[in-house]
Amino acid sequence: MLSDKNILLVIAGGIAAYKSLDLIRRLRDRGAGVRCVLTDSGAQFVTPLSVSALASEEVYRDLFSLTDESKMGHIRLSREADLIVVAPATANLMAKMAAGLADDLASTVLLATNKPVLLAPAMNVHMWEHPATRRNLAQLHGDGIASVGPEIGELADGEYGAGRMAEPATIVTAIEAHFAGFPADAAAPPRPLRGVRALVTSGPTHEALDPVRYLSNRSSGKQGHAIAAALAAAGAETILVAGPTALADPADVTTVHAESAREMEAACLEALPVDVAVCAAAVADWRPADTAPGKIKKDGAPPPIDLVENPDILAGLAADTEQRSALVVGFAAETGNVLEHARRKLERKRCDWILANDVSAASGVIGGDSNTVHLITADDTDSWPALSKAEVASRLVARIADHFGALEKTAAPVRSDA
Ligand code: C5P
Repeated sequence: MLSDKNILLVIAGGIAAYKSLDLIRRLRDRGAGVRCVLTDSGAQFVTPLSVSALASEEVYRDLFSLTDESKMGHIRLSREADLIVVAPATANLMAKMAAGLADDLASTVLLATNKPVLLAPAMNVHMWEHPATRRNLAQLHGDGIASVGPEIGELADGEYGAGRMAEPATIVTAIEAHFAGFPADAAAPPRPLRGVRALVTSGPTHEALDPVRYLSNRSSGKQGHAIAAALAAAGAETILVAGPTALADPADVTTVHAESAREMEAACLEALPVDVAVCAAAVADWRPADTAPGKIKKDGAPPPIDLVENPDILAGLAADTEQRSALVVGFAAETGNVLEHARRKLERKRCDWILANDVSAASGVIGGDSNTVHLITADDTDSWPALSKAEVASRLVARIADHFGALEKTAAPVRSDA
């Protein structure tokens, strides 16, 4: 409970500001007094009226408002708080805080305060990963300011990565942890895969016919990238071997870009040894036998294309060698008899688990944002409901964590050189 606590909530400008309304409600439900400062850009996303209705308090907005300053000056705003929470904390406000700028009410309160501050950053993944933001966050942590999140997931702009503001429940946990005397990190999500090394393949491959033309498929890489991001978020040291996709490299993941199946295979072998390998790439089964050194001319009859088989990366990783990972997971994209084909694939490729999904045109899985999968193991089939690709990734990672947790309990080494 937070019944004797006063929280000053600074709401800066970001789409995540709508979640701050829920945060206010949750804090009030726990008995906390909540006073809010809304920046001008924050007011583009939530109205002062809804903020004040939920907080049952006036909203403070203007440093130069005579009425605001006479009723509640910026110094008093901070002095009467037990904790200042900035949610969402934008890249801009964090930069101002790190530099000690004070050019509006929010930044002035944050500079004038002698109270603990907790940030809940929210921004686009590239802003979050930008060296300037990294520097500013390190500076703020060095100044004793705590932070919670951001989380990894789909962002408002359609990109995937770190940048989603922590959920209000998580921020409340961080606030309670603060008052209980624990650092904010105590409320951070557990990292069950710390110490585990993971390899993920993702996306399609391009098999060159000549310098400008290639054979490929419709894979977007969304599922594989989501799995790599979720593994990293769970603490695994993650290497993503990515075919050509339009997606940003996930945060906290070492991404190696590969064009063709053979490049992808070489990058995977280079990444070994790993504890878990997840092959989500839609590797082209065949490649042109020859790649023309110059652009093939359009004169005469269409040129015949001789195809040769590509290496099967999954089968190679799952083969019984010294380098074999403790857990090898494949995908089976099928357009009919999904379970039957997938189970046969599990046996033929000798992998430990297969995630089988229906990729017929009607399913909308290829290139889409959701997926309906069945997790097939040697002796079990677990059918999951339709989920977003991010949720499929989280569920898979939870299963992987359970698997390694169970291995640890039987005292088996997760990886011989770990
Ligand atoms: O045989 P099929 O392509 O249906 O098998 C799908 C599974 O095998 C996926 O996990 C995919 O990543 C993997 N695969 C591979 N290398 C190939 C073909 C498929 O790793 N050349």
